[in-house]
Amino acid sequence: MAKSFKILFVSSEVYPFSKESGIADVSNSLPIALKSLGHDVRVISPKYGSISERKNKIHNISRLREVPIKVGDRTEFVNIKSSSLNSPKYKVQVYFTTNYHYFEERLGIYHDPITWQEYLDNSERFIFFSKSVLETCIQLKWIPDIVHCNDWQTALLPAFIRSGYSNLFSKSKIVFTIHNFYRQGIFPLEEFFKTGLNNDYLKYFEHNGKFNFMKGALHFSNFITTVSPTYREEILEDNILNNGLNNELKIKEKTFKGILNGIDNFIWNPRKDQLIHSKLNNDFLDFKYKNKIQLQKIIGLPIEPDIPLYGMIPRIGYQKGIGLFIESADKIFNNDIQFILLGQGDPNLKSQIINVAKKYPNKFKPIFTFDENLSHQIEAGSDFFLMPSQYEPCGLNLMYSHNYGTVPIVRATGGLKDTGINFNEDTLNGNSIVFDNYDIDDFTKAIIKSIKLYYNKDVFSQIIQNGLSCDYTWKEGVKQYDSIYRTIFKE
Ligand code: GLC
Repeated sequence: MAKSFKILFVSSEVYPFSKESGIADVSNSLPIALKSLGHDVRVISPKYGSISERKNKIHNISRLREVPIKVGDRTEFVNIKSSSLNSPKYKVQVYFTTNYHYFEERLGIYHDPITWQEYLDNSERFIFFSKSVLETCIQLKWIPDIVHCNDWQTALLPAFIRSGYSNLFSKSKIVFTIHNFYRQGIFPLEEFFKTGLNNDYLKYFEHNGKFNFMKGALHFSNFITTVSPTYREEILEDNILNNGLNNELKIKEKTFKGILNGIDNFIWNPRKDQLIHSKLNNDFLDFKYKNKIQLQKIIGLPIEPDIPLYGMIPRIGYQKGIGLFIESADKIFNNDIQFILLGQGDPNLKSQIINVAKKYPNKFKPIFTFDENLSHQIEAGSDFFLMPSQYEPCGLNLMYSHNYGTVPIVRATGGLKDTGINFNEDTLNGNSIVFDNYDIDDFTKAIIKSIKLYYNKDVFSQIIQNGLSCDYTWKEGVKQYDSIYRTIFKE
């Protein structure tokens, strides 16, 4: 039998405990997929103030109480708590870094939820988190073979491990996964000195006169991955997307792979989904009809089963194409359509969205909150799902949309390019409506194409079928991670 590894999966968001973006979903589904291969996988993440201990069955671990951790001149104490990820067949242990000052006293993950200001001490918060990860392993005497880090919040760990924080980790190997290379964890240079790393390490983190967390992770990890093959190529080449770190990536080219994310077919399964109004059995039209009417009802849109309904669940920022949506609004809402947008983010963009909603009150409803139940209901009840992203490392919602027979309208970028195949009305091939250029013209053309398709019922049902028959489980992706672990473990 193949060797099984001790794998510690480190992430700042883990569904169902905390979620701001798709990284939370991957931090649930990938560890479960790895467990299914027989590995001893455990997950660790911070416990933010919004995570209820009772609801999530989180309990204390008596050995892991009041462990001191230094961040700059400050000493804070960590308590580690525990819960689990549960799927029908597998259970994965989750550790929570608990500290009142850095996490417990705040409701947001990286931002204040009301003002959307980033917390001013985010660098300290994730220095603390990284050290707590190592302390947890040391105190538990459970030393991972593989430390799998995700995004900038965990990007100091590779340096801590290789700098000899404890020689217990001398054999541990490190994989670093990039979910969004535009957010690199960039802070004033002085913040570096709070890490406690020797000053010799500064050169590995200094970029454009700033302290850049991710730069260090690229240097100290044994293998780098990102969440789709196309996004890998894009960040190797595009100086805006990689914020000038192309040389650092190029050096690693041979140990840098794009692996398309998978999804959990238990959580995002319209036949089993407990969060939607009406589950799918064998009558797709009935499923869509019931969920659509219910969605219109709860959102307060006119009940109109026969006009196209569009859903969008973005983080409200430029990356997700919100600027493009606002600029195109008059052209889009010139048509007889309905539109729901659910998301949190930039207050300035939010006020522009509100102006659009005031102009088209019977057509457009934005909801500015984070609501996982509603996001399932939007996937189930909409006819189309919009992702006009400027860039998109993977884009899990395209996959969720296909599972729910909701046709994605996406821009050909990153993971959306790897998964969205533009529908061809002559051959009836394709599962999405895909447009190329990030501009009003291409975007509105895609919307017009969708409206025409919607009223051509036979053709419309074909594109839906094409999406429903796609398979996005982790089956293939997890094998690739497994083989990376095996390769680096032999080194
Ligand atoms: C980030 C990316 C998104 C990806 C997700 C999971 O949120 O922006 O494209 O799907 O991570 O990897």
